Amino acid sequence: VGSRVPNDFRIKSHKGEYAVRFNDDIESVIALSQENDPHFIIDANVARLYAETLRVVLANPRTIVIEATEENKSIERIIEGMRTLVDNKLRRTQSLVAIGGGIIQDITCFIASTMLRGVPWTFLPTTLLAQADSCIGSKSSVNLGSVKNILGTFTPPREINISSRFLDTLPDKDIRSGIGEIIKVHAIDSAASFDELSSRYPALLDDRSVLIEYIDRALKIKKRYIETDEFDQGIRNIFNYGHSFGHAIESATDFAVPHGIAVTMGMKIANSVAAQRGIVPERHRKRMSSVLDMNYRGFESVKIPFDEALSALTKDKKNTASQLVVILPVGDDAVIQKVGVDNDAAFQAQFRTALAELRQ
Ligand SMILES: NC(=O)c1ccc[n+]([C@@H]2O[C@H](COP(=O)([O-])OP(=O)(O)OC[C@H]3O[C@@H](n4cnc5c(N)ncnc54)[C@H](O)[C@@H]3O)[C@@H](O)[C@H]2O)c1
Repeated sequence: VGSRVPNDFRIKSHKGEYAVRFNDDIESVIALSQENDPHFIIDANVARLYAETLRVVLANPRTIVIEATEENKSIERIIEGMRTLVDNKLRRTQSLVAIGGGIIQDITCFIASTMLRGVPWTFLPTTLLAQADSCIGSKSSVNLGSVKNILGTFTPPREINISSRFLDTLPDKDIRSGIGEIIKVHAIDSAASFDELSSRYPALLDDRSVLIEYIDRALKIKKRYIETDEFDQGIRNIFNYGHSFGHAIESATDFAVPHGIAVTMGMKIANSVAAQRGIVPERHRKRMSSVLDMNYRGFESVKIPFDEALSALTKDKKNTASQLVVILPVGDDAVIQKVGVDNDAAFQAQFRTALAELRQ
């Protein structure tokens, strides 16, 4: 049985509605995008792996090929790309087309929202993380030197075209990175939704049609929140579940851990801190552990220096002047909520314990 292709749907945003399309015919998506004389920005690995499928893109002299590294997502490096676009005479009537994962998305979205006071952009996400999560929601996040995601805008693409064919070449660690974000949105949806997903974890890894079903489900859950709170002023904050701690891990390990795997570890830390503080029953921490443990397997031995991790946590964008703001499971139903905590000795001990538990 071939993979079922989910139905297309639309997302409401401050720039109007945009379409999420599922289409495995990459060549025809590219052919259609040619109509408004686009400038392509493409991931170097994708350019190499899909040279034949994307030959029209690679033959275009204006195409910009970028290695997907966090350094290349810094404002300093992005300026080089902007210069190239100026040299290539980017006009407002043209569009940018991003082909790649979250890094290429962030770079393209940031450029599209700032150059010429805004040019349209469209997106072909090529990683599971980008297909199941980051492609919708309008955000661009770019780095200032080594300070991660400190600059950004809200600028949705005009259209997203998801092709599961791109997943064929994605390394296992990047599949699990994407699954990390899928787990996160299901935890936000409900404990029941999380448990249902957990029970199908092996199938997510082995069965492409199950994975596609969960890409669709994850996007539909996220849609509800971003349409209510596109600018992340309230309820959308809970999508940072696993992220404050995850970012701390990414920065303390110099990005040795892929984003969604760091988020998986971050969820485990959040659950542990919540349980240690007595704000969620112990049974929820236990219930959620096994799928989280499976998903970050292989990364448990990465050294996470405590002082660096704590220092990164204190720089999180969500913090207030007096408190750390973290997203934790709360109460009998493990509802994912925003919680302010004092950065005191008790919290630091809990964080240290939670980090140590990652290796158990
Ligand atoms: N803007 C947002 O809403 C948002 C949300 C989540 C994450 N992000 C950002 O996204 C980034 C992580 O994104 P990501 O996980 O997609 O990673 P990525 O873009 O770094 O890609 C991961 C790796 O996969 C390679 N790759 C991409 N597509 C491939 C394919 N089809 N086959 C084989 N290899 C392929 C890339 O070259 C790279 O080596 C982080 O910088 C994170 O901060 C942004």
